[in-house]
Amino acid sequence: MAQFATLTGWGKCMPPAVLSNADIATFLDTDDEWIRTRTGIHERRISHVSLGDMAEVASRRALACAGLAARDLDLIVFGTCSMDEQVPNMASGLQARLGASAAGAMDINTACTSFLYGLTTASAMIKAGTVKSALVIGGELISPMMDWTNRNVAVLFGDGCAAAVLQATDREEGVLADRLGCYGEVRGILQVHGMGLNYANRGWPLGDTDWVFEGQEIFKRAAVGMSRACEAVLTARGLAAGDIHLVVPHQANLRIIEAVVKRAGIPMERCFVNIQRYGNMSSATVPVALVEALEAGRVAPGSNLLLTGFGAGLTWSAHVLRWGERVTPLGMSDAELPPCTRTALEMVRGYIAVKQGSRYSA
Ligand code: ACO
Repeated sequence: MAQFATLTGWGKCMPPAVLSNADIATFLDTDDEWIRTRTGIHERRISHVSLGDMAEVASRRALACAGLAARDLDLIVFGTCSMDEQVPNMASGLQARLGASAAGAMDINTACTSFLYGLTTASAMIKAGTVKSALVIGGELISPMMDWTNRNVAVLFGDGCAAAVLQATDREEGVLADRLGCYGEVRGILQVHGMGLNYANRGWPLGDTDWVFEGQEIFKRAAVGMSRACEAVLTARGLAAGDIHLVVPHQANLRIIEAVVKRAGIPMERCFVNIQRYGNMSSATVPVALVEALEAGRVAPGSNLLLTGFGAGLTWSAHVLRWGERVTPLGMSDAELPPCTRTALEMVRGYIAVKQGSRYSA
């Protein structure tokens, strides 16, 4: 009998400190009106804890939702481009925190599509019979590596994390079609200088970042890549736009989302948008949006969801995800982050002060 990988657990962890557009305008030459109209973003979150801390809370909530014990997990796939540590990886840290001692543990970095590439990886391993259950995380702690002196990028991003549990089933659910792609020839249009050994070898302090960011070119490529991927997965399943109940897209810019949904022939009412509250959380955007769509009652049993995203690389993807019967959690976790004692603006001003103290600053 065919094996599928259905999504049985979901949980998010949003750090509580909110950085508004007005807060950013206190240290950058920008304003609320420009940010809202060009991007759709009103505010974003700044984390007071590590990515590992956020991932643990999101994962405990997702496991409780699925009614699955951590020791019964076979695999952890951690999607991120802002890892607390590179060696050992994030997934092994999460395995230890959760006590998921039977689980294999891998990280995936395809920037903003990392959760979506992880979804494909975990689903394929379940369908192949390699594993029976998997936890897939999309999480980012971008604020410490942001160049807060660059208004072209600083207004766009935020921190956050979410997790999903996948389990083997005979029912035709979960990822039914997926398309992963990459425009590697234009990988230079979005680069974070200062992260990785290329820079460390040149004496550049790790984390003292300088973002190369060609916004308009990214915009165009993202719209084309996501549209291409959406068309491919709909065709692969023989689905028309009218068969999709909800689109859950990467939330990088409201105008990109509108362009992709329009090109797919799907009305915006059938698209979930939360960019106004969180900005672009890179790999966390799609899983956080998925969790919030469920919380808002936007996912019905048996729904066909269309997930699509793009990220640095320039990677892009689309998935047709058929939901199962259950749209409410089986259980709740009492996992919480420690209280935050600083404002988001205080934390960001701290990062700016560190950067100004570095030898690479003007
Ligand atoms: N506040 C005020 N003015 C600004 C700001 C700001 N924060 N940022 C740029 N401007 C100015 C520019 O300097 C420019 O001024 P000029 O005309 O005098 O030169 C003007 O606003 C227009 O700039 P554009 O770049 O043309 O603005 P655009 O409408 O293209 O919007 C944006 C820029 C929002 C970056 C858009 O191109 C975009 O969203 N691109 C996609 C980027 C993205 O989502 N990247 C995520 C990648 S995901 C990952 O993997 C990390």
